This record gives sequence, structure tokens and C-alpha cells, in this order.
Amino acid sequence: MKRIFSGVQPTGNLHLGNYLGAIRNWVRLQDEFECIYCMVDLHAITVWQDPAQLRANTREVTAGLLAAGIDPARHIVFNQSRVPQHAELAWVFNCVARLGWLNRMTQFKEKAGKHRENASAGLYVYPNLMAADILVYKATHVPVGEDQKQHLELARDIAQKFNHDYGVELFPIIEPLIMGAATRVMSLRDGARKMSKSEPSDMSRINLTDDADQIAQKIRKAKTDPEPLPESLEELAARREAANLVGIYAALADESAETVLARFAGQPFSVFKPALAELAVETLGPIGAEMRRLTADPGHIDAVLRDGAARASALAAPILAEVYDIVGLLRG
Ligand code: AMP
Ligand code: TRP
Repeated sequence: MKRIFSGVQPTGNLHLGNYLGAIRNWVRLQDEFECIYCMVDLHAITVWQDPAQLRANTREVTAGLLAAGIDPARHIVFNQSRVPQHAELAWVFNCVARLGWLNRMTQFKEKAGKHRENASAGLYVYPNLMAADILVYKATHVPVGEDQKQHLELARDIAQKFNHDYGVELFPIIEPLIMGAATRVMSLRDGARKMSKSEPSDMSRINLTDDADQIAQKIRKAKTDPEPLPESLEELAARREAANLVGIYAALADESAETVLARFAGQPFSVFKPALAELAVETLGPIGAEMRRLTADPGHIDAVLRDGAARASALAAPILAEVYDIVGLLRG
């Protein structure tokens, strides 16, 4: 059976972008693949995190995955730092990846901003740890949002260079799975920025924990232009805020953007927004409620993570041993 790996940073509220770009697809892939889903806490600390908040977020994001429908009995759900093989393989990959490759990573440039000298070394080698996350299980398929594509190409390059440098066929070719009508959900306040956990304005995103009133209010206040919805995808593409809302509607309804336009063309936002809000509340409401129920029982969440880590470690240990052996690190 093909193996899936994917990760999410436990750095704040899960939002609609995480859900449509990643988590909903993770849920859907459970019948076809053996899945490993990870709260990547070691990635989170590449920028400073309040320790108590990091622990709370790790539990909350886990609750989000379970509430969305991930089954921890059939698949593996755990937090990264409990399985030391991730960090160990990442060190080997720090020695495989080239500085020139890392220098091209746009996420580093965005996150480091103007004061690059002040960014942590961890933020710089972040993609090497991400490659290790996947390859320590020899996972082949990685469901993510659009923004992770470049990192996955780097992971592929690392796997190929390792195989080539040591004359082995150890690591598989990684296939990104970028699925659905909303692979890059944009901020509700600014159609040029992606919806993100770290954006200060809470009005920019719909959190999975938002209640019906909050969801409706955020959609009502979402930035748009004054025109009614267009008839064609070409006209829509030129209007990024409108395109974002139509994309969200299409993804939530499991329809194409074309179908959504066929229904709403010529209608003003005063008609479209309430329809979108109703759909969003209908889809996300039950997930938020289940998250709140699960978060009230941290003992259960912790047990899921402990059990997942033990199973993950059992898969990773022999693969890391193979790597150490190939590289010539003396053991035994
Ligand atoms: P992160 O919140 O950065 O840990 O991302 C976790 C997953 O959600 C990754 O697969 C991302 O690609 C995906 N994701 C994050 N933000 C968005 C967004 N605005 N639109 C679509 N997918 C996203
Ligand atoms: N970098 C990813 C993000 O911010 C999270 C992540 C870490 C990941 N390791 C991964 C995603 C491995 C897929 C596979 O969204």
C-alpha cells in the first residue's frame, strides 16, 4: 500500500486554508493509503514560540485533525519531536542539501523578511527537516496546499542526490498531492496575501473554532469589489477577492468554480455572501463543535499522540538504521 505523510505546524488556530488545502484531503485519502499525519513542533520552534502555548496548540491542532475525521486507530497521528529519527535524518540531509538550493526557498525569504541575519539557522534548514519527515518513512505521496510545492521539489532533489551520491535506490520519488478547488486560500482582507495563522488580524481568516456568528460576520466583512459576479472564469480571474470567495464556495460545496458561477453570475455579493456563509457554517460548524469537545479531554489527545509516536518510531527506526549504514556511520 502507498504511504502518505503530511504535517501541520502547531503554531495557532487551524483555519479554512489549512482545512481546504490540506486537512480535508488528508481525511479523504484515508481509504486509499496508509497515512501518517504529524504536528511538526520542531518546525514550529524555527521561530520563537511560547512554551505553554506550543503545548496547547499541539493538542488543539490534533483535536482539529480528529474532529475533521482522521481516524487515529487506522492511521498514525503524532507530534514530531517524540520521534527522534526525524531530527537525526535531518542532520544527514543538512549534509546532502546544497546552500544554493536553500537560498532559492521563497518561504524562507518571506519569513525571514528584511532582517535575514537575525533569522534562526533552523528556519534556514527547515526544508531539510521537512524532507526528513517524509523520507524517514519512505512515504511517496504528500498532500499539501500550493505553498509547499517548492519545499517538496527540494525534498525530491535531496532524495535523488542521496541515492546518487551513495549509489543506492533507497528513497522513493515524492509525489505532491495538491487537490481541490482551493489549494491556495487567500486572506479575507487582502486578496494578495494567503490566509495564514500568523496574520495579526483575526478577520483575515476563518478559524475552525469560530462559531456561526463569527463565520458569518467575517464573510460579510470580507473585502470585495462592487461588481456582481461575472459569467466566465476569465473575468473572475481578474478579480482576486471575488475569485477567492468563489473558490472557497466551490471547495466547500465540492463543485467546480464554473458550476458556482453558473448559479451566481449576475448576482451581487449581498446575495452571494449569505449563501457562502450558510455553506461555511454548515460544513465547519460541526468540526468546531467536535474540536471543543475533544479539547476538553486532553488525556485522550495525549494518549492518541503517544500511541501514534510509538507506531511511527517503529516504522522510522529501521529506515534510519539503513541510512546510517549506507553513509558509513559505525554502529552495533
Ligand atoms: P501550516 O499552517 O503552514 O503548517 O500549513 C499546513 C498545511 O495547510 C500545508 O499543507 C499548507 O500547504 C496548507 N495551507 C496553509 N495555508 C493555506 C492556505 N492559505 N491555502 C491553502 N492551503 C494552506
Ligand atoms: N512545512 C509545512 C507547512 O508549513 C509543514 C510540514 C512539515 C510538512 N513537514 C512536512 C508538510 C512534511 C508535508 C510533509 O505547511
